[in-house]
Amino acid sequence: MRTTVGIIGAGPAGLLLARLLHNAGIDSVVLESRDRAYVEQRQRAGILEQGTVDVLRAVGAGERMDREGLRHDGIELRYAKKRHRVDFPALTGGRSVTVYAQTEVCKDLIALQLKEGGPLLFEAEALAVEGADTDSPSVRFRHEGREELLECDYVVGCDGSWGVARKAIPAELTRVFERTYPFGWLGILADVPPSHDELVYARHDRGFALLSMRPPVSRHHPSKEVASLPIESFVSRLYLQVPEGTDAEEWGDQEIWDELERRFETEDGWRLERGPITQKSVTPMRSYVQEPMRYGRLFLAGDAAHIVPPTGAKGLNLAVGDVVTFARALTYQQETGSAELLDAYSETCLRRVWQAERFSYDMTTLLHRAPDATPFEDRLQLARLERIASSRAAETDLAEGYTGFPLD
Ligand code: FAD
Ligand code: DHB
Repeated sequence: MRTTVGIIGAGPAGLLLARLLHNAGIDSVVLESRDRAYVEQRQRAGILEQGTVDVLRAVGAGERMDREGLRHDGIELRYAKKRHRVDFPALTGGRSVTVYAQTEVCKDLIALQLKEGGPLLFEAEALAVEGADTDSPSVRFRHEGREELLECDYVVGCDGSWGVARKAIPAELTRVFERTYPFGWLGILADVPPSHDELVYARHDRGFALLSMRPPVSRHHPSKEVASLPIESFVSRLYLQVPEGTDAEEWGDQEIWDELERRFETEDGWRLERGPITQKSVTPMRSYVQEPMRYGRLFLAGDAAHIVPPTGAKGLNLAVGDVVTFARALTYQQETGSAELLDAYSETCLRRVWQAERFSYDMTTLLHRAPDATPFEDRLQLARLERIASSRAAETDLAEGYTGFPLD
């Protein structure tokens, strides 16, 4: 099998890259180790930056997002039983974010790819990238019980944090920057409308809590008009900071609601609505960057190259930035013969990656309580939150980071 760009992984990065290349007239093959149902059901991110929304629309994958996604113009910060709303458009010259789940982005991109894109092979596991430093790299993969070779001009590793692509870069040429956190997120989906119409990020002495939401995917709206669904039709997505290594099953449903209620408590009597919990899982938290993001004709994109802790919802959006940068660079190379942008790929991506790493780290340390936090650190956290609530400059910094750093 031969193609111009071999793409490993059909997460948001790989699927969007295939679409961008298809629209630019460049052929590709996507190899995905899991089956289609698994990729479409895997619960992960839920917030799209303005730039991500713009890209999805531009590639023709925005139709259902425009119908079912929900535009959010702000978030609420909650601490010491107080509430502070951050107004994104007012602080950023009109920027906002959209609530539309990663599962739905993947479904939309898969449908488009299967309808009019190049090959997308499910249950095709990449085993190794070979000849990355030559003009003809290839991907050895297993599909339908056979080992095969995908010969390419370029390989893009979009295979997430446990993928094989980055292993093809010699260790002596790479640098890894990493930090783990002594806590994770217990995430639930609950069949009850969200108790607030915007996301709530809560700092509490017992730990962080987040209120988010999902469009009602199980009951798709038949309406054709381009209008957001009403908030009442959404389901709740909620997260609790839990100690590192927690097993989701340790937490009973009643216990989860009680803890959420404690952490979201306000002095003005705000109420958290409860409902049946339909899904429960724990996500570990990690910051990770592997540099450089390129070796010869192998390029890394998305989680394959970097991980952010989820506070602030940057992971998926960063993956989008990487593949847009790669597609632009390759298109430029094909049109002009110049490899200038491909050569700058790693550096270009890493500038944005490190801003997102910084933002996600700041949000994480602003809102989570470390198990060994001292009273001094607790006071500092509250002072940082008070600063955001009282200074337009500090609040603008948060709003700019949350709505997203521009692509170069
Ligand atoms: P992925 O989505 O991981 O896709 C990689 C794909 O490659 C997968 O489909 C995988 O099956 C496939 N693959 C792996 N190895 C191979 C192989 N050898 N051969 C072929 N295919 C392979 N971000 C947020 O912003 N908010 C959140 O709440 C949030 N929650 C998360 C929860 C979890 C459990 C995880 C792991 C991540 C979460 N993230 C969240 C991060 C966000 O989902 C990721 O940043 C995003 O999925 C990155 O997209 P990607 O395409 O780079 O990688
Ligand atoms: C969601 C996840 C996040 O990491 C975040 O900061 C906000 C929302 C979510 O899954 O809805």
